[in-house]
Amino acid sequence: MQPTVVILAAGLGTRMKSGLAKALHPVAELPLVQHVLNAAAGLEPEKIVLVLGHQADRVRTAVEKYSAHIVIQTEQLGTGHAVQQAREAFAGVSGPVVILCADTPLLTTDMLRSLVDQHRKSRAAVTLITARVEDPFGYGRIVRGKGGVTAVVEEKDATAAQKKIREVNAGIYCFDPKFLLSALTQLGRNNAQGEYYLPDTISLARKKKRIVSAFPCSDADEVMGVNSRFDLSRAEAVIRQRINRRWMAEGVTMLDPDSTFVGMEASLGRDVVLYPNVRIEGTTKIGDGCVIYPNCRIRNSVLADGVTVKDHSVIEEAEIAAAASIGPFAHLRPGAIIGEKARIGNFVEVKKSTIGAGSKANHLSYIGDATVGRDVNIGAGVITCNYDGYDKYRTVIEDNVFVGSDAQLVAPVRIGSGAVIAAGATITRDVPADALAINRMPQEIREGFSIRRRKLKQKQK
Ligand code: UD1
Ligand code: CA
Repeated sequence: MQPTVVILAAGLGTRMKSGLAKALHPVAELPLVQHVLNAAAGLEPEKIVLVLGHQADRVRTAVEKYSAHIVIQTEQLGTGHAVQQAREAFAGVSGPVVILCADTPLLTTDMLRSLVDQHRKSRAAVTLITARVEDPFGYGRIVRGKGGVTAVVEEKDATAAQKKIREVNAGIYCFDPKFLLSALTQLGRNNAQGEYYLPDTISLARKKKRIVSAFPCSDADEVMGVNSRFDLSRAEAVIRQRINRRWMAEGVTMLDPDSTFVGMEASLGRDVVLYPNVRIEGTTKIGDGCVIYPNCRIRNSVLADGVTVKDHSVIEEAEIAAAASIGPFAHLRPGAIIGEKARIGNFVEVKKSTIGAGSKANHLSYIGDATVGRDVNIGAGVITCNYDGYDKYRTVIEDNVFVGSDAQLVAPVRIGSGAVIAAGATITRDVPADALAINRMPQEIREGFSIRRRKLKQKQK
């Protein structure tokens, strides 16, 4: 029989000192609880039961796609009490019950599978994961006696001698459902925190002469509990390291993996080079041979092969075709679609616009709500004036247009193919193909002006 998984996520997480429930704090972009759900889902369990309390509605929304069975713990009276609330959801199941906490984001399906395997083989009433840690502070300590683990003692209840124990309870268990159901009715709250402790089931099992099996986990990181912002930063670092190792094994170069972030749902091609301080977020896909220079952030975007993104660029929900070049200091906003070999350069912002293959906007431009054809040159400082304070309008620039520097294109407006817009022009009407549009004051020359002025100034002194 497949296991049933219960995940405890009702606590507020007081030590986080946050208005946000702990289960929702993100690590590597995903809420803590989602990491645990992912590991649990890999077990292909009979069902997943999620115990919620603090900000239950927000957590429920965050985990909708897992179709977990939700149970509400209205008052947080401890981990044992939380499991009691889920009793009905696992009463009558024949497979083992795996209990997890929402605050251990580094656990893996492999580890859970090994836990269940060992549990089945040992015929234990309960199998619990233990880990040896450098600093056991805050964890329940594993007390061993004759015949193995005899009890788990919480930090606040531990004697000075017990506090020195460095083998700790990971908070990850596999139970025989019948034993669990009966043990839950026998938990008391006569302890330092006045709570029903789930780990008290361990000593109960020993009293009933049932088998308690310990599953020592060799990598303490995998079972690390996140209780504080510091723990959160450590979990982030471990996940980043795992992801980066995987991509380097797939042929990605990272000049400084410690400062490089690649999201869990992002993907990278071969021979991609990521310079320091790069963040590849969300569902971004980066094609073969792309080079991303320092301090760039790319979110939910698609880059075809051979794209170069130069320093300090921000790219959000954009699509970039092969061999295009972006940046330095470019901002591609949602709906920017950049054609093959196009160049979007220094301090250029593009929003909801298509830029055709081979077109260039290399300096200081705003291109919004525009359709730009192929091989168009957009000069320095060109602005599409897309907004009149009420509505947005489109600019269409057909193929091979040359837009001179500092022109403003007041939308809605269309520039026909091959047309030339003179530098500094303010274009308010459509321009036919191959025409020149120019509107500037005729230039005046006043010979000797500076000489006359200097003389005037000297007289005044
Ligand atoms: C718990 C264990 C401790 C173990 C550690 C491992 C207990 C009493 N202690 O301590 O032995 O070493 O985990 O990380 O179990 N929760 C509820 N309802 C409640 C209380 C807690 O749902 O009433 C949930 C929390 O949201 C959290 C999880 O249970 O996801 C663990 O609670 P937490 O307060 O973090 O327990 P620890 O003190 O870390
Ligand atoms: Ca914890």
